Amino acid sequence: MTIEVSNASVRFGGVVALNGVSATIEPGRIVTVIGPNGSGKSTLFNTITGMVIPVSGSVSVDGWNLEGVPTHRRISAGIARTFQTPRFDPHVRVEEAVLCGFYPQVRAGFLSTLLRLPTAEKEEDTFRERGEKVLADFRLSSLRHMALGELPMGQVRLVEVARAIANEPKYLLLDEPAAGLSRDEQHLLSEEIRRVAKSGVGILLVEHNFAMVRALSDNIIVLDRGSILLEGQAQDLLESQAFVDAYLGTSHAKHRETADG
Ligand SMILES: Nc1ncnc2c1ncn2[C@@H]1O[C@H](COP(=O)(O)OP(=O)(O)OP(=O)(O)O)[C@@H](O)[C@H]1O
Ligand SMILES: [Mg+2]
Repeated sequence: MTIEVSNASVRFGGVVALNGVSATIEPGRIVTVIGPNGSGKSTLFNTITGMVIPVSGSVSVDGWNLEGVPTHRRISAGIARTFQTPRFDPHVRVEEAVLCGFYPQVRAGFLSTLLRLPTAEKEEDTFRERGEKVLADFRLSSLRHMALGELPMGQVRLVEVARAIANEPKYLLLDEPAAGLSRDEQHLLSEEIRRVAKSGVGILLVEHNFAMVRALSDNIIVLDRGSILLEGQAQDLLESQAFVDAYLGTSHAKHRETADG
């Protein structure tokens, strides 16, 4: 039960966006991808969801090779994602946006929903209840009637994460979900990510804040111009001088020297 990206390469014209990248996302674990702008982080996400087709290599979910499988079928297989730049209708209200997360799970048929048959109504009640819980978990209950267009981008991202989680996916891909959030919101988001992972969801995260990355990640992949430069736990990366210099700057290196005595 994993998402396996094996040796995937992606090109856009002359640009090699991914160069032989492999990654494994397992239930209950958090893998984080870090790297400078343009290093291929979002392309890795798009390769998994089928929005980008690799020129070589493969992606599989739970042993199913996804070659030629369209995005909507990958979503039905339990892969949910958020976008770095959220794509949303500014008129949709927070509550509706989160309830939309349940759409792929709706089992009652279109006709029974239309005719409001008891099975459909029961299902709707269950979703509403779960929707309430997700709204409360993300402290969004008081904003439920706000239109997304009225919210700052950070909170729209939070709504996106809430919607993706409402979907109860097996795998959750979060592309810079903490961008634009206050410290408190970042803390809340970290707690939610941890909680969802504990419930058995496999998570792939793109995040720039190394403190958050360090606190959350079971494994960190460092991408550089489409290739994996380093991979390991936070401590492994911090032991690499090249990593510390390139990603954390000299102030962190100095701090480490002091901390190490
Ligand atoms: N649809 C596309 N068409 C052409 N080039 C693209 C496309 N998507 C990405 N690229 C290029 O591929 C490379 C990797 O981009 P990608 O968006 O994956 O990087 P990233 O690590 O997510 O960057 P950022 O930190 O800015 O989000 C970049 O050089 C980018 O310009
Ligand atoms: Mg990106």
